[in-house]
Amino acid sequence: MLKQYSLPICLGLLTLLSITSVNAQETIKDAKQKAKDLGPKDVLLGDGDLLQGISGKGELKLYQIRKWLKDPEVHRVINPQLPLGLAAAQASIQGIDENPMTQAKIELGRQLYFDTRLSADETVSCASCHHPDEGYGRQTQFGVGIDGQEGGRNSPISYNRIVSNLQFWDGRADSLEAQAIGPIANPIEMGNTHDACIETLKLIPGYKLQFNAVFGQNPFNIENVGKALATFERALVTGPTPYDYNEAIAKYSKLDEETLNELIEDDEDFKAAYEAEAKAAKKNPMSEGALRGQKLFFSERVNCAACHAGANFADEKYHNLGVGVEAEKPDVGRYEVTKDAKDWGAFKTPTIRNVIHSAPYMHDGSQKTLMEVVEHYNKGGIPNKNLSDKVKKINLTDQEKKDLVAFMEALTGSFPKVERARLPE
Ligand code: HEC
Ligand code: HEC
Repeated sequence: MLKQYSLPICLGLLTLLSITSVNAQETIKDAKQKAKDLGPKDVLLGDGDLLQGISGKGELKLYQIRKWLKDPEVHRVINPQLPLGLAAAQASIQGIDENPMTQAKIELGRQLYFDTRLSADETVSCASCHHPDEGYGRQTQFGVGIDGQEGGRNSPISYNRIVSNLQFWDGRADSLEAQAIGPIANPIEMGNTHDACIETLKLIPGYKLQFNAVFGQNPFNIENVGKALATFERALVTGPTPYDYNEAIAKYSKLDEETLNELIEDDEDFKAAYEAEAKAAKKNPMSEGALRGQKLFFSERVNCAACHAGANFADEKYHNLGVGVEAEKPDVGRYEVTKDAKDWGAFKTPTIRNVIHSAPYMHDGSQKTLMEVVEHYNKGGIPNKNLSDKVKKINLTDQEKKDLVAFMEALTGSFPKVERARLPE
């Protein structure tokens, strides 16, 4: 009896197996088609579960990835919305037309960012030098790569890159995509070659599945690694700070009390917005010192905002503050890229959002505290042949120096929750 049925049963099982595997292919494809039909969606960056990985514990299993990729939502194009504060830079968002964001691409980029298998000896990841616990920078003076090798520059932060175009202290990478593939092949950072990196990734089934799902046919090339990493970094946006909450209510102080009360009584929407904003500002207060520091920061006399300008407190331009000019062979900074004399010793203005988390400071990591940075500006930088004319002796009192530091502390916002493990097995 049993023998008689075993062949049909075997055949039946085989067909069932092949149908399920065809179905798995079909459904990711279907999910992508459905995502296309649904069209783009607005997503607020800076909180939520966008960066929290595929749910579960331990190494990522192939079946978990497959199941996740069958959800059309992860393939929908994202119109990123910036949180309060940074939102003023919404129009400066860079790179997403060329490299559209989807949750599946962000998640792939997240895995690559934390994966040491991208480096030659599998010991170094992007997070080794841009670590979530150290403000996405690193608290060493210089970046430390494979075999403990040190470069000559401090690791800058890797968040809020969505509003920034040229990357590196000297702006030599013209996009986040171009930047991201640099460290992989840099002999003192990840020490790998692009080809070897691709060969490694290809052999990891979880990556194979995801590269296929995200990039389609022949997806394995270093440009796509760069695209995924850049997309993760674009989604890495920090939340509102006490300064932002305070700015949100500052607009009401322009109204006289009578008008304000009238609006609150007559307009329910106005009332709701006003109350929510007032509550948030109260919950995230700025100290008296920070408020005084804010005035100084934006004043004509101190004018930090001449360069730390706009919603991300960075003008995306290059200036010489004299940092490191006393070295025997000074780092020429932007000059290396442009060969233009006006760029000699000039470096890109870094954002100072969340800056308390990413000491030490400056391109050479030579300043250990924010007070040291303020002292540097107070004395008018370090004289040299190309010092910026925006850097002059300020003569701050001790209290004013403390107030400036307090203001920078009030530029600290929340960081989104980011899963660091959950890499493909
Ligand atoms: C060995 C340490 C190290 C590793 C590993 C590393 N970086 Fe960096 N990163 C640096 C340093 C140092 C700089 C600044 C170099 C310069 O300006 O010449 C930098 C610059 C950057 C910048 C530019 C930020 C800005 O404001 O211009 C981004 C973005 C970045 N890295 C992302 C990454 C990514 C993504 C990876 C992984 C593929 C990675 N880094 C791996 C040390 C490292
Ligand atoms: C002329 C433009 C300019 C002005 C004015 C200016 N900055 Fe800067 N700031 C820069 C540049 C450029 C750097 C990086 C310089 C380097 O590494 O050589 C920098 C670096 C910093 C850093 C270190 C950030 C990091 O991640 O390493 C802090 C903090 C800072 N500035 C705060 C201030 C404060 C406070 C003021 C006002 C007292 C101010 N800046 C005025 C352009 C400017």
